[in-house]
Amino acid sequence: MAKKKITVLTGAGVSAESGISTFRDNGGLWDNYDPQVVASIEGWRHDPGMLLDFYNLRRAQLKDVSPNAAHRAIAALEEEYDVTVVTQNVDNLHERAGSTRIIHLHGELTKVRPERGVYDNGSFSEQEVFDIGYSAIHLGDKAPNGSQLRPHIVWFGEAVPKIEDAIERVIRADILLIVGTSLQVYPAAGLYRYAKDSAPIYLIDPQDIPLRDPRITHIRAVATEGMEIFKKILENK
Ligand code: OAD
Repeated sequence: MAKKKITVLTGAGVSAESGISTFRDNGGLWDNYDPQVVASIEGWRHDPGMLLDFYNLRRAQLKDVSPNAAHRAIAALEEEYDVTVVTQNVDNLHERAGSTRIIHLHGELTKVRPERGVYDNGSFSEQEVFDIGYSAIHLGDKAPNGSQLRPHIVWFGEAVPKIEDAIERVIRADILLIVGTSLQVYPAAGLYRYAKDSAPIYLIDPQDIPLRDPRITHIRAVATEGMEIFKKILENK
């Protein structure tokens, strides 16, 4: 029999217990940095060196953290389910925990691409994206096409190329699981609406979530504990 499909939509909260700051919690990254400066295309045009430093630091920090039990529990779902992880996170902790099908909606810290890609409008092709691991990039570091290298991150003011793939995976899901996102950034925040009527939606987050969809069961817990509860729910289904 074909495996049931679970699509898991994750945000910064799934990596919080690994020691990576969320964005909007107290003491979160956006308390200390202005997203319009360090996470927008205007910020890049205004001061690319500063943005490179910001993401170099994030990349260096990533080397020193590890996946937590929630990442591992999501990966372990693959033993019995056909799982797709759609993450807003730019870290690589789902990969390092063993998940095999991951859509990174907002890009990946360990990858870079040319500032001006191959297409006439300057956008890039997947062939131009490459892995740099945890190393830094600087002004003057060029892609093979001669253009300045930039982080492979989707900034505010830019298109989200993977959104169609993500929508398709949500539409196909028999169960939708949402972990650790404040659902404030679109288009990711609207993805759950594509779930079919018959698909239950579970949401793991320690905070209140202002969603009124009757299909949603809120598991009010941190990600590691919430995944334990979610596993029990699956076992009793
Ligand atoms: P937010 O910081 O907006 O939300 C984090 C969510 O995680 C909140 O709802 C918290 O309550 C929850 N949380 C905190 N600790 C948790 C824990 N231990 N376990 C489970 N949940 C926990 O982060 P995102 O929703 O991921 O985009 O933010 C979305 C996007 O906004 C990011 O991808 C980033 C940012 O601007 C870009 O930079 C393009």
